[in-house]
Amino acid sequence: MGFPSFPNSCFLLILLCLVNISTICSTEPLKQEAVLFGGNFPALYVIGDSLVDAGNNNNLETSVKSNYPPYGSDFEGGKATGRFSNGKTIADYIAMYYGLPLVPAYMGLSEEQKNNISTGINYASASCGILLNTGKIAGKCLPLSVQVDLFQETIEKNLKTKFKNPSELSEHLAQSLFMIAIGANDYAFIFRVNPNFNATEYADKLLQDYLIQIERLHTLGAKKFFINNVKPLGCYPNMIVTSEPRGSCKEPLNLAIGLFNTKLRNSLSQMKQKFTDTAFLYSDYYNFMLGLRGGTSSNQAGSSPLNSTAPCCPEVYDGAPTTTCSPSSIACKEPDTHIFFDPYHPTQLANYKYSIACFNERSICHVVNN
Ligand SMILES: *[C@@H]1O[C@H](CO)[C@@H](O)[C@H](O)[C@H]1NC(C)=O
Ligand SMILES: *[C@@H]1O[C@H](CO)[C@@H](O)[C@H](O)[C@H]1NC(C)=O
Ligand SMILES: *[C@@H]1O[C@H](CO)[C@@H](O)[C@H](O)[C@H]1NC(C)=O
Repeated sequence: MGFPSFPNSCFLLILLCLVNISTICSTEPLKQEAVLFGGNFPALYVIGDSLVDAGNNNNLETSVKSNYPPYGSDFEGGKATGRFSNGKTIADYIAMYYGLPLVPAYMGLSEEQKNNISTGINYASASCGILLNTGKIAGKCLPLSVQVDLFQETIEKNLKTKFKNPSELSEHLAQSLFMIAIGANDYAFIFRVNPNFNATEYADKLLQDYLIQIERLHTLGAKKFFINNVKPLGCYPNMIVTSEPRGSCKEPLNLAIGLFNTKLRNSLSQMKQKFTDTAFLYSDYYNFMLGLRGGTSSNQAGSSPLNSTAPCCPEVYDGAPTTTCSPSSIACKEPDTHIFFDPYHPTQLANYKYSIACFNERSICHVVNN
């Protein structure tokens, strides 16, 4: 699969059409444009954590929710949907890029709606991760393997109703895009419990469980994967606020995550050889976020005066465990001046910038060929 270039202006135009002025732009003529990974996906299925949760945690017994203002202030209708940002997530922008509707959260759907949807479902759950126990301390959430269980249930109970013909169903699954963005919470929790954890051992343990679930999805019929690597957690506001000197990144944590990401990328090459009918798009979200922050990567935020250290909400952040973006928090007036909306999550602007970079820069997103 090659990567034909896709002009910036064209991509911007598509996004503008979809975001603001859908009435005066038709996306039809652009369908023939070459897009990364072929495009023309009938559906986007999303698996992951709070980076891409579209509201699943709203319906779970947990305090890790975001279905209240100031979250969602820049989302459609200013609605706090349970997305952990002021607006759209990276999963939203990816859906839009491929001309698909925003993917609804599984936990918020009625059985009737599940039976009727064939453009994708989102199973992502904030605070959870790859390991079953990750996030448990914060309440209920859906670990990776449970998300895959739910997807399996979607096939058995709903998609088999929607696609009466088995070959149509397998065609649908084989053509659909499966986005996976998970693992950051596994690192957040191990770092809290034991900051001196063995990075090699831990990465191998996570990867083993991660690959089992990718293989499960493959067995269920998934063939096209969008794999987002783990963010540079050591540079996030909740981490740097307790660093010495204050504001510096926690390098050992970033190194541990970097090790996992390298192993993940290598495993995809191996998996590609094992399952020749499978395609992987690898997304280097880690280096994108480092670059946006103004780190070592060449992908600088340019001259734009973005605040890359403090969250927008709460506007005054001391790093205390009780200081989060709560319903009573005062948020900054312009989230677009920040990379981070709350101490753990990016603003819509950062998510938008990621999507532009992913689809235009092969250093951020590339199809795994070897
Ligand atoms: C089923 O989906 C179609 C198109 O996606 C929509 O117009 C319709 O309202 C849905 N029906 C139900 C019962 O959700
Ligand atoms: C980490 O674990 C690996 C594999 O068990 C081991 O070979 C290595 O010595 C350990 N590293 C440290 C610093 O303990
Ligand atoms: C970032 O925002 C915080 C809080 O609003 C503020 O205290 C800090 O000075 C800002 N940093 C920069 C570099 O603008």
